[in-house]
Parts: sequence; C-alpha cells; structure tokens
Amino acid sequence: MKIIRTLYDMTEYRVGLRERNASVGFVPTMGALHEGHMSLVKQAVSENMVTVVSVFVNPIQFNNKDDFEKYPRTEEEDFKLLAAAGVDAVFAPDAREMYPEGNQNQKEYKLGKAAEVMEGLYRPGHFQGVARVLDILFRLVDPHRAYFGEKDFQQVAVVRNLVESEGLKVDIVACPIKRASDGLALSSRNSRLSKEQREKAPEIYQTLKYSVEYSKDHSVQATHDTVVEHLDAVPGMRVEYFQIVDARTLAPVEEWDESDWIVGCITVYLGDVRLIDNISYRLPY
Ligand code: PAF
Repeated sequence: MKIIRTLYDMTEYRVGLRERNASVGFVPTMGALHEGHMSLVKQAVSENMVTVVSVFVNPIQFNNKDDFEKYPRTEEEDFKLLAAAGVDAVFAPDAREMYPEGNQNQKEYKLGKAAEVMEGLYRPGHFQGVARVLDILFRLVDPHRAYFGEKDFQQVAVVRNLVESEGLKVDIVACPIKRASDGLALSSRNSRLSKEQREKAPEIYQTLKYSVEYSKDHSVQATHDTVVEHLDAVPGMRVEYFQIVDARTLAPVEEWDESDWIVGCITVYLGDVRLIDNISYRLPY
C-alpha cells in the first residue's frame, strides 16, 4: 500500500491510474478506523480496481476546538488495517498541505436546505468545512465512487448536494450503519467513553428501536417526546436534538403519512462525548 502525504504525489499517483484506465473507489475518513469504516473500505475494494482512502482530521469542520484536539488519532494502526484490507493507497496529508492559505478566501458552498437543519444549526460552519475538504479531495482523487456511512445520515444528503452544485462526477454510495453487538453505532468517538458511559451508550439505539414500535400507534410528536424523555432520564446523558424528518429533504415531518421515507436523527451527549445515530420509521422499499 502506498502512503501519500502531498497533493503533488497524489496528483502523480492519480495520473498513473488514468493511464491504466482503472476504476477508483474512494473512502474519505478522519482515521481512528473501526469496523464501520472497514465495511466501507471492503465494499470499495470489491467494487473498484483501485481503492484510495484518505486519513485526515479536518480542522475546519470542528466548531469546537476541544473536540478537534481530543479526536482520536491512531495513524499507525489505521495504516495496518488498510493494508490488510487490500487498499492501494492512503492519502494522509497534514493541515498545511491541505490548506496552505489557512482559512482565508473560503468559498461558500451551496449545500441546500439539508445543510441548514440539525447538525447545520448545532455545529455552525461544520458542513462548509466538510464541503471544502471533500471538494479538494474529490478533485484530487477523482474517484468514480465515494463511500459514506449512513450513521452520518445528514452528511450523506449534504454531500450529494455538494456533488450536484459543484458538478462533480462521482457516485456517492451510502452504506448501512455498523453496530456493536449491544446496538451502539460504531464511531471513532466511542473510544473516548469511560467504562460507565460505554455501558449506558447502547440505550440510545435501544430507545430508538423501541420508538419504532411505539410510533405505530402514536403521533410523531409523542414519539419524539418519548425518545427525548427516556434518554434525558439516563444519568449523564443529554439529548442535544432529536428530529423526525423526511429522509430526502431532511425537513421535519408532523404526520407519519407526510412521506414514504421518514428517519429520526439524534445527537446525544454522554459527558462531553457527542454521539449521533438514526433510525427509519418509514421506508420506501
Ligand atoms: O465523516 C467523516 O469522517 C468526515 O466528515 C469526512 C467525510 C471524512 C470529511 O472530513
């Protein structure tokens, strides 16, 4: 597996792939890889001639300095996992390489209404930061397909909008959430949970699952309230937001018959660790 650190070397590598006419799969990550990432990598390896993974903790998508500083960094283990999974190249630049001009002259991306709700409201600037890094990475790696996890449900919708508004030629492939055996959605941030917090964390998914049953004979509002009340009652846990939305537009729904695809998106704090998850209430298939 090739380890690439500079934009120049990545461009050269990509030119070589074009000469070979290779189909390229791309998995953008911030490292601290777990089985969730590795399921994206596995799919990319199986669907493309060449797989490139980026490992870059993108400073400009963190609106909280502390969260950025505490974000786990496990580069050596990450590279071992990626090599063993059959990845061809890993692109792992540093921040100066990615943003030589710092934060100046930032372009404002058109990300649509999907970027204005939930994470867009609670993490101002977050999606602009994600858009900027992905715009650079997509133009550099020029993949045929890019793989994203559905745990970040809103991110997938926003990335699709970015691709459309920038006219980028890449297929966005959304892959199902990977969970631990107790239901907790896999996340790099899980490694920051204390033993006690880790024991409480599965309550998030258990409550969401229960709420799907509950929703069958209760309103959207009652379903919302039962989730929030239940999780807020767990000591040390605080719901930041829970929104039941149309999965395509991410606009809030008030009635179950408003859409054939409805998803509940949640963000919960356990101490200072911020976890997100989601669940489908209605599916079009
Ligand atoms: O989902 C993530 O890990 C990040 O938001 C991404 C897509 C790698 C951009 O930094």
